[in-house]
Amino acid sequence: MSISTVVGNWKMNMSVAEAEALATAIRALLTIPDGTLALVCPPFPALAVVAEVLAGSTIGVGAQNVHPESSGAFTGEVSTTMLFETCSHVIVGHSERRALFGETDDFINRKARAVTEAGMTPILCVGESLEDRDNGRAEQVVEFQVRKGLAGVSGAVVAYEPVWAIGADRGATPGTAQEIMAYIREVLSDLSSYHSASEVSLLYGGSVNHSNIQTYTAQDDIDGVLVGGASLDAESFCKIVELAYR
Ligand code: PGA
Repeated sequence: MSISTVVGNWKMNMSVAEAEALATAIRALLTIPDGTLALVCPPFPALAVVAEVLAGSTIGVGAQNVHPESSGAFTGEVSTTMLFETCSHVIVGHSERRALFGETDDFINRKARAVTEAGMTPILCVGESLEDRDNGRAEQVVEFQVRKGLAGVSGAVVAYEPVWAIGADRGATPGTAQEIMAYIREVLSDLSSYHSASEVSLLYGGSVNHSNIQTYTAQDDIDGVLVGGASLDAESFCKIVELAYR
């Protein structure tokens, strides 16, 4: 059985001092139900201080991105060597990185492999654009991203985030999300490295908040959520974690 998982993606928000204050408030407020994993993913400059604030708590820390090489002449990049002391998880292939920074599925796969080689867990984000959905290509696009992204990788979390539902007024309907996520589960069970697809945590992401979380986690193939905007407020994030257990 996969475990209920809530990941807060803070994206490019907050100063280091503000990130420290948010982590402190989350630590003070949060009660994590047994069987639930809660993680926050601050921007790189705040990772060390947030990890320090959360040390000894049950709240984990993840990174939002990584470069596949472990060191070298890659100005401005951050490697797994710099992350493994503070992070258990690393988000790879977020749609903002695919769309705004031109990341390809091959490059994302190299990142995912580097993350597992360093002993951390990649959170692979996949999801179709509105155009793909309108053209009836949602399943095909997502399948390609899962197969390419996880080639040679075992032990990942997969987050289905339809591009059109991120930071939107409304997310995908729970039924729409479930449909694609059941399909992702099928694809996973077909990948040789995933002997037990039912143990992979599948997260839904896209405009999740404390009012709608349970409509998602009530679905058979949704084990948790990846939350952007609503993770920037301690109370709202803590409520989401408390409601996520299924
Ligand atoms: P959102 O972002 O919750 O603000 O829609 C989700 C994400 O991009 O991970």
